[in-house]
Amino acid sequence: MDFISHRMRRIKPSPTLAVMARAAELKALGNDIISLGAGEPDFDTPEHVKKGIIKALSEGKTKYTAVEGTLPLRQAIAGKFKRENGIDYTPDQIIVSAGAKHVIFNALLATLNSGDEVIIPAPYWVSYPDMVEVAEGVPVIARCTPENHLKLTPELLEESITPKTKCLILNSPNNPTGMVYTKEELEALAEIIRQAPHMYVVSDDIYEHVVYDGVEFFTLAQVAPDLKERILTVNGVSKTYSMTGLRIGYGAGPNTLIEAMTILQSQSTSNASSLSQEGTRVALERPQDFMSEWVKIFSKRRDEAYNILNNIPGLSCIKPQGAFYLYPSCVALMGKQPPLGSIITSDTDLANYLLESVGVAVVPGAAFGLSPYFRISYAIETDKVLEACHRISQAIGLLK
Ligand SMILES: Cc1ncc(COP(=O)(O)O)c(C=O)c1O
Repeated sequence: MDFISHRMRRIKPSPTLAVMARAAELKALGNDIISLGAGEPDFDTPEHVKKGIIKALSEGKTKYTAVEGTLPLRQAIAGKFKRENGIDYTPDQIIVSAGAKHVIFNALLATLNSGDEVIIPAPYWVSYPDMVEVAEGVPVIARCTPENHLKLTPELLEESITPKTKCLILNSPNNPTGMVYTKEELEALAEIIRQAPHMYVVSDDIYEHVVYDGVEFFTLAQVAPDLKERILTVNGVSKTYSMTGLRIGYGAGPNTLIEAMTILQSQSTSNASSLSQEGTRVALERPQDFMSEWVKIFSKRRDEAYNILNNIPGLSCIKPQGAFYLYPSCVALMGKQPPLGSIITSDTDLANYLLESVGVAVVPGAAFGLSPYFRISYAIETDKVLEACHRISQAIGLLK
């Protein structure tokens, strides 16, 4: 019997998870593997958040909540948007879901008709195109160039828009490049968005607080308030509060969109975990000072890893301004040959070579829609990051 729907044929498992799985397999066989594939901070969840969750548990907050999230949490989220981004959202313009991924999934499913196009600047977070495919949309990949620091330009956006465009997904700070859009760059994109009233924008701000060197974060609804009715601002606590497993993300946007997403969620997962919602409320309402310490640590790791990688002949890397990834280009290594094994013709070949020869797991650029590059995450202990970078250097040094 053919169990599997046609819809499932359009998508593949997350490639980052595939690399992690292969690395885990080799580790289980006793190999010394360092995985730079993970997209989650190695810091512990803040103590006050844990206490908030324990308190909620002992108070019996273990029942269904409103599908769209508890009112106190949505009020706390509205407070966050006002305080940190200068945007006014009311609680009824906010939905809480099981992670930012779930928010984006809900949005795409609630808005796309079959054949609607979604512009995704590449390199992109691996899940966007598959989520669009599940919703029967068509991903339109806008390939960004190194000359523009792998960012979407107004020209590239304009070229990508057609009468069928329904949505644009923007992500800053970006996974995998770490690039952050400036206010001026967002204003220039807004100019083009204004001319395409049939399109809305998902602004994925999940790495908002992980920015370096005094770079200032801006989100589209903040710099172009006139477009607010066509923007879904997405954020969450996975990355910046080290709460990945607690699965809370939130989206804020026009009432009609939030209502549709809520109806969809009511027929699928219902509310996000009641305890995680309480933890998130505490995270947003309490002082945020621990974050600057974390960012300091990430920033030091970024500098050290960047210095090693960028000095490896054959690699070149733009210095990231945010998130916790480096995305070196390995175009100069294509056509090279390892001492044992066949010629490297793609970033996937290179990633396999690094894993099999020196036990370092990286994610090939093919997963992010722009090759030949690879992504390393430096969200693991500093010593391991540096050891992994030295191993990469050693392995690349052996290529002829
Ligand atoms: C750009 C981007 N958006 C969204 C997410 C998903 O975050 P969450 O854990 O809140 O679902 C990730 C996680 O890797 C990400 O990198």
